[in-house]
Amino acid sequence: MSKTLTLTDNDTGRSAELPVLEPTYGTPVVDISGVPREIGCFTHDPGYGATSACRSWVTYIDGDQGILLYRGYPIEQLAEKSSFLEVCYLLIYGELPGAAEWVEFEADIRKHTMVHEGLRTIITGYRRGSHPMAMMVGLVGALSGFYHDALDVNDPAHRLACIHRLVAKMPTIAADTHKWGAGQPFMHPDNSYGFVENFMRMMFGVPAEPFEVDPVAARALELMMILHADHEQNASTSTVRLCGSSGTNPYAAIAAGIATLWGPAHGGANEAVVQMLSEIGGRGDIPKFIDRVKDRESGVRLMGFGHRVYKSYDPRASIIRNACHDLLSKLEGTEREQPMFESALELERIARSDDYFIERNLYPNVDFYSGIILSALGFPLNMFTVIFAVARTVGWITQWNEMLGDTEDFRIGRPRQLYLGHARRDYVPAEERS
Ligand code: SDX
Repeated sequence: MSKTLTLTDNDTGRSAELPVLEPTYGTPVVDISGVPREIGCFTHDPGYGATSACRSWVTYIDGDQGILLYRGYPIEQLAEKSSFLEVCYLLIYGELPGAAEWVEFEADIRKHTMVHEGLRTIITGYRRGSHPMAMMVGLVGALSGFYHDALDVNDPAHRLACIHRLVAKMPTIAADTHKWGAGQPFMHPDNSYGFVENFMRMMFGVPAEPFEVDPVAARALELMMILHADHEQNASTSTVRLCGSSGTNPYAAIAAGIATLWGPAHGGANEAVVQMLSEIGGRGDIPKFIDRVKDRESGVRLMGFGHRVYKSYDPRASIIRNACHDLLSKLEGTEREQPMFESALELERIARSDDYFIERNLYPNVDFYSGIILSALGFPLNMFTVIFAVARTVGWITQWNEMLGDTEDFRIGRPRQLYLGHARRDYVPAEERS
């Protein structure tokens, strides 16, 4: 016998038996779809902090315990033992690949790493100083203008072709945005390199020279991409689902996700953290900055801190902070050393001993240390959120595919509202207005 909750309107006596749906893990959900019919009202939850928007089998987060699972596998184990492309397979297909499946998947991805040359014509229309995320939104949206052969979103085979294309092409497109801004020639992918190494070569290589992959740097980038691959129903993933629920093509839906990720409250925070650390200056200025953050009037936030779900340490932040220690110790004395890492550690130490942050359960999130690693790897500041988008594309497109494949629950998303505007009133001709 499944559990139910009774909701009763004490004025009218109308009541509804609401089914409680039990999860594998985490918080049970109350199916409120019958409330308007049974009670005659909507539920209200601005920011969807208390709302389950869908069923999903992909990623589980426990915000209190600081747990993150991709298809049931702990992020700590995947970060240590897997590769980004294997995590892509896991997210897309739901299982780790066997030998034959892996060979086939790698070949499918390699087939699609190049982009239509017309896309590179589009990019040259952007002003050289355009933010790479502005180019990413436009270029990924434009993909639907090039790949007409598989756009039937109701055909699982077409959806899989789009998934392979997007996962394979995002590094090439991302590198192109950097090359265009840097005034350097575009690099074609070279599939003799690994997936992440190919991305680094397109980013930092030039046609005139052979490209030597630094294995330590490649592993650090691989780690970053694994950690950013998916994260349940965050703002950009929810955007991709809502956009895709209209039946639009996946390239347009992913472009909407990229646009959402760009915001400083979301994926744009990694860039904002490094800007914040640069503005704070030395460690001696940290207490003054913390005071500004605590002053609500200032509107200043500690970027890279806080999370809608994690009310404990974001497990990804712990992994990245440890990776910083490993990577940066090898860069000491080089032009890539990152003095801001010490400032970030001091900032975290001071914040986490301050009641303002403790009372609000504000801890470092995935963005707090990620910019430091990306900077150490040579990525310019304006590429940080682009790296996030390249990695998150597999999560977005997996959730999009899951939504369209969930024939039992799938319908176009259409929230309602609490209307507080004017009551009905008649038009007043211009000559009669005061
Ligand atoms: C990502 O959702 C995901 O899963 C996202 C993500 C993913 O992988 O997809 O994890 C990636 O987006 C990480 C978050 C990156 N953003 C930032 O680092 C920006 C700084 N953080 C915030 O602006 C904020 O913490 C949010 C947006 C992340 C969460 O905001 P909430 O849940 O709406 O929290 P809130 O604004 O209601 O804050 C609750 C209280 C408020 O204080 P009071 O009104 O109670 O006095 O905490 C305060 C806030 O003022 N607060 C902060 C703060 N974050 C919250 N105060 C100072 N600095 C902060 N960063």
